[in-house]
Amino acid sequence: MKIGIDRLTFATTELYLDLRDLAAARHVDPDKYLMGIGQSQQAVIPPTQDAVTLAAQAAAKIPAAELAQVSTVIVATESGVDNSKAAALYVKQLLGLSDFVRTIELKEACYSATAGLQFAKGLVALHPTEKILVIASDIARYGLQTGGEVTQGGGAVAMVVAKDPRVLELESTSVAFSQDVMDFWRPLYRSEALVDGKYSTQVYIDFFQACWQRYQQLTGATLDDFAGFLFHLPFTKMGKKALASELGDRDDQVAQRFWAVLQASQVYSRRVGNLYTGSLYLSLLSALNHGQLQAGNRLGLFSYGSGAEGEFLTGRLVDGFAAALERPDAMLDQRRQVSVAEYETLFNQHLGLQSQDCTFDLSDSQAPFVLAGQQNHQRQYQRRG
Ligand code: HMG
Repeated sequence: MKIGIDRLTFATTELYLDLRDLAAARHVDPDKYLMGIGQSQQAVIPPTQDAVTLAAQAAAKIPAAELAQVSTVIVATESGVDNSKAAALYVKQLLGLSDFVRTIELKEACYSATAGLQFAKGLVALHPTEKILVIASDIARYGLQTGGEVTQGGGAVAMVVAKDPRVLELESTSVAFSQDVMDFWRPLYRSEALVDGKYSTQVYIDFFQACWQRYQQLTGATLDDFAGFLFHLPFTKMGKKALASELGDRDDQVAQRFWAVLQASQVYSRRVGNLYTGSLYLSLLSALNHGQLQAGNRLGLFSYGSGAEGEFLTGRLVDGFAAALERPDAMLDQRRQVSVAEYETLFNQHLGLQSQDCTFDLSDSQAPFVLAGQQNHQRQYQRRG
């Protein structure tokens, strides 16, 4: 049975920061951010948006008739809003899905959406008529004036997993690799991540090589068997570092093809920053919208989550895949640019670990799903329009 990604949509916030402005405010050469890190803009997260509202916003772009067929909602996130209750429950409610739906939240840093995809594939294999909604939703927060600040961002990617998929048929062999490593983590008492930045980039590359080399041993595949690789992109330069670890200074047709796919995959991440769980799948959407890929092309996907876990998985593009994709370019162009001062104010208004009741001003927001505040320790979500 063919099982894979049947639909792919993306949502982010209405606001962004130009990283030239951030560079000026932090007294850094802008080329460090634009070229050294490979980011030009960053999604700015108002306090009225969180992992739940962004997840609902991405999923609401899926046609209602398809949402109505969903049997299970999996929300992959490391920006959870409750220590007990699954974000997927709030999302299911906001989307107006039937109560006869299974809901669950998954966590392992940026990796867990890939686990969600694999679990969804297993469910469809057992129950071929079911459609599974996997949503990767996160807010990447490191803190003002930290080394990680330039790699912040946020948004969500929603995927429907089904048999006879319209976008990407997932193949059966994949390689997962996990080790207890302290490269990036967020203790329960913090709403900003802690990171050993340079070490984390090395662990990422080591895990990519461990997965890819084992995949080659298991399958006999080589780079020639792929149109290109897609990477988790905490910042776009990270994909370049990972691909360079494999290609070295090779400059033949295969290498040029891989570099072209990587470049096409970086377009959206460069403008929104790290989505954590959603980043790899935003790379996929970007490559499909901006690359020269065709039906039948085979893609390798490297998923990485700090802590750490990696997985190399593969898929084949399906005939007519473009019809089941969102094209978010115009949505990104329409966002409002904020100043560094406004970004800092919004950053500090984040609900975070705060226990007091509060009400947020919604007048500036056109977002279809919002967090209106907190009453009696309960988050107040609204669907508008
Ligand atoms: P840093 O110390 O600010 O930067 O840390 P740097 O000094 O290493 O410079 C960065 C690059 O800019 C270097 O290039 C410089 O040469 C270059 P590279 O050697 O890396 O190729 N550069 C310039 N280029 C042009 N013109 C200039 C200039 N100046 C310098 N004038 C770091 C950067 C990414 C480490 C930091 O931002 C950070 O800690 N970010 C957060 C951690 C992170 O994103 N890690 C990625 C791997 S871990 C992962 O992907 C998991 C994650 O998504 C979390 C999860 O799983 O949940 C993070």
